Amino acid sequence: MENARPVLFEFYPTLEGKVPWTPILTEIPSNVDRLIELEKYLKLNDGEIYVKRDDKDHNIYGGNKLRKFEFIFGEVLKKKKKAIITLGGLGTNHGAACAIVAKELDLKCELFLSLQPITWHVQRSLLLFHYFGAKLHFTKMFELGVLKSLLFRMCHPKYYLMSIGGSPLFGIGTPLGTIGFINAIFELKNQIDEGILPEPDIIFVAAGSTGTAAGLTAGCKLLGLKTKVYPVNVSRDIVVNPKNLIKIANKSIKYLRKRDKSIPDVQVDKDDFEMIKGYLGSNYGVKTVKGQKAVDLVYELEGKKLGFKLETTYTGKAMAAMFDFFEKEENKFKKVLFWNTYNSNDLDCYLRETKFDFEKLPKKFHKYYSKLFQCWQITKCPEDIRNKCPAYLNHDYRFWRVSECQLEESKKEEAINYLNKIIQLEDA
Ligand SMILES: Cc1ncc(COP(=O)(O)O)c(C=O)c1O
Repeated sequence: MENARPVLFEFYPTLEGKVPWTPILTEIPSNVDRLIELEKYLKLNDGEIYVKRDDKDHNIYGGNKLRKFEFIFGEVLKKKKKAIITLGGLGTNHGAACAIVAKELDLKCELFLSLQPITWHVQRSLLLFHYFGAKLHFTKMFELGVLKSLLFRMCHPKYYLMSIGGSPLFGIGTPLGTIGFINAIFELKNQIDEGILPEPDIIFVAAGSTGTAAGLTAGCKLLGLKTKVYPVNVSRDIVVNPKNLIKIANKSIKYLRKRDKSIPDVQVDKDDFEMIKGYLGSNYGVKTVKGQKAVDLVYELEGKKLGFKLETTYTGKAMAAMFDFFEKEENKFKKVLFWNTYNSNDLDCYLRETKFDFEKLPKKFHKYYSKLFQCWQITKCPEDIRNKCPAYLNHDYRFWRVSECQLEESKKEEAINYLNKIIQLEDA
């Protein structure tokens, strides 16, 4: 386990000290694995599929956020702020990562959460935010949350406001998070040079606030790679659109060039990436047929063996887009890298420590627990059985995939029927 200095600082030593940075990632460079079973399943013709394992880049909570945080929290510490304020949906992964890192760095964390479809992931996340010490605020509408967080920041000058997803919003905000992904491409370049993977033709990545995709695109441009980034829109068009990506990417390059003039004078434009739509469903956070299928298939073919799992809001949808891409005969020879942006460390152990006591949360969140998603709730599974059962508080809502039910068959069926009724996958 090591905290590696950014590769970007090795390429451009002048940046060190001029670009804020603090060590957070514990497993860097993140591995690149080849997905041979998936290649066979998709019947590729000389094509290759790799996955960048950012899901394991931190010992508690892996994923894309941590790369952004090394630079953003670098600034928080440099400015001697006492707390971090940020925002997202009720089940925000960004919020979870933020709470965990803030706790590690001994900072307070204030999360402004807005409504999204209530799922088991949302119920888990709220309890985990609280477990890791975050203070929760709620607004029904996202736009109102933005306003409230701004007002809150005005009343607390010692607090640092990090925009949604750690990316500039409509061009406003720090590009530091995006620089985390420019650095990631420099890390990848070393792996290409070491022969771990060929220079990819394409990188598939989920886009929520677009900072990750913008950083990857800017990094490829700065290094002159032939790689084209394919961001898959899993969120609002108002945030995930080509104009916004170009704005964020170029803001980041400008920030770096201001501090080191030897950085190439390049600009990202519309030909450097291909934004993909059609995988979101009706709204952010809804489960789709294709997304769920991609999550399950990749787990069966590769994840079980390699130790990673996708999810249905981001990475499952991005993977579904990659599947469709490989359906076309002309793409079957492409070398593709899938950037895994989701955590695959176990958080169930922390959730169990909360004993699922949602009444410890502020009162306005209690109503989000009226929907029952877990078998032990539906069947009123006795404590002595549930406490020994791996399905209890497991991240997968489909308990029958996790363990053999110890209750009588009729109870199991009752729970499966109930869950099948309330969890509708959208046809997208
Ligand atoms: C698992 C996962 N993947 C991808 C993203 C999208 O990253 P970005 O907000 O930089 O577009 C997020 C954002 O929350 C995420 O949680």
